[in-house]
Amino acid sequence: KTLDDLTDIAGKRVLVRVDLNVPVKDGQVTDTTRIERVAPTILELSEKGAKVILLAHFGRPKGEPVADMSLKAIAPAVEEILDQRVHFAADCIGDKAANAIADMNDGDVLLLENTRFHEGEEKNDPALVTALAANGDIYVNDAFSAAHRAHASTEGLAQHLPAYAGRTMQAELEALEKGLGNPKRPVVAIVGGAKVSTKIDLLQNLVKKVDALVIGGGMANTFLAAQGIDVGKSLCEHDLAETAKSIIAAAEVAGCAIVLPEDGVIAREFKAGADNEVVDIKAIPADAMVLDVGPKSVAAINDWISRAETLVWNGPLGAFEIAPFDRATVAAAKHAAARTRTGSLVSVAGGGDTVAALNHAEVADDFTYVSTAGGAFLEWMEGKPLPGVDILRQQK
Ligand code: 3PG
Repeated sequence: KTLDDLTDIAGKRVLVRVDLNVPVKDGQVTDTTRIERVAPTILELSEKGAKVILLAHFGRPKGEPVADMSLKAIAPAVEEILDQRVHFAADCIGDKAANAIADMNDGDVLLLENTRFHEGEEKNDPALVTALAANGDIYVNDAFSAAHRAHASTEGLAQHLPAYAGRTMQAELEALEKGLGNPKRPVVAIVGGAKVSTKIDLLQNLVKKVDALVIGGGMANTFLAAQGIDVGKSLCEHDLAETAKSIIAAAEVAGCAIVLPEDGVIAREFKAGADNEVVDIKAIPADAMVLDVGPKSVAAINDWISRAETLVWNGPLGAFEIAPFDRATVAAAKHAAARTRTGSLVSVAGGGDTVAALNHAEVADDFTYVSTAGGAFLEWMEGKPLPGVDILRQQK
């Protein structure tokens, strides 16, 4: 059920779970993307005359109030993006919340304090769920990026109140369905990032679902080393050689092509502008490390992107934060963006570093969908159930 199913809500108290877990430096929100994503839901409910009560977590305060994890600091950024006054209550339950809600007029927006200041949040404690539910008539979840958590404000509340998906949740699920649910084939996945150990489940699931799996970033070294290639001083999890081999074997059985680097950009130190050169992947000097995939590999990856109807992307191909090791990621991202613009590719990307990498390549807006979710996007790509989504789907 979506907001389209929510009519006649003037005067109703709508509890809206949003993700305001945004980066903050010196008290300022440095990336407002997540706030921008939830603004349409908040404004739509407010325009329909609902009393819009925002629930969110911020950081990992371990069940008790922590001053620098107060959502009060985020309220001005929300206010600016909504271009509407945002009231604040210093607790998400109890008298402080109840009094603030009693003062609301129809269409008002109220932000409640960090749900994780109560230990019942992460435990999905029925007592906290009941206390939260007392503040609302309707529940809307617009926080896909927190939907992998079975918490009181993400899963518990949906069992207690009539529950609906917000606009961002809806858009996210539609995009993900196009990406891996029922995609147009061939489907190509690009998985990069530093370590295999954080992405074993992901790789094991993808080889069963996609036609080609491009492995880049530091994690490619573990696969190369497992095949007997000397990766010099490169980041490499040698203890995962057997895991890498089993993923390659599973891919063969499933008919999924594994695309590993043929060449690499090497350097002796990891710093901007470090002396670097391109070498064949079988000729990495013992004292050098691979910091990006090389031009031959980029050509092969772009060839796969050209053949794909659907692309799912998680993780950069190289150490993109430091030039010139951003070249492969930027080149592949630009190629995928160009094909998406012509309507011949559905491109879905997600995960913290991936969003930063696509922003760096200045193509994030050209992708079909860029998810702001980190862990939730990964767990979805791993084929794991997302409790916050599943409970919404169960609504009659
Ligand atoms: C995120 O930032 O990925 C979400 O807000 C979830 O945060 P968590 O990993 O602390 O649960």
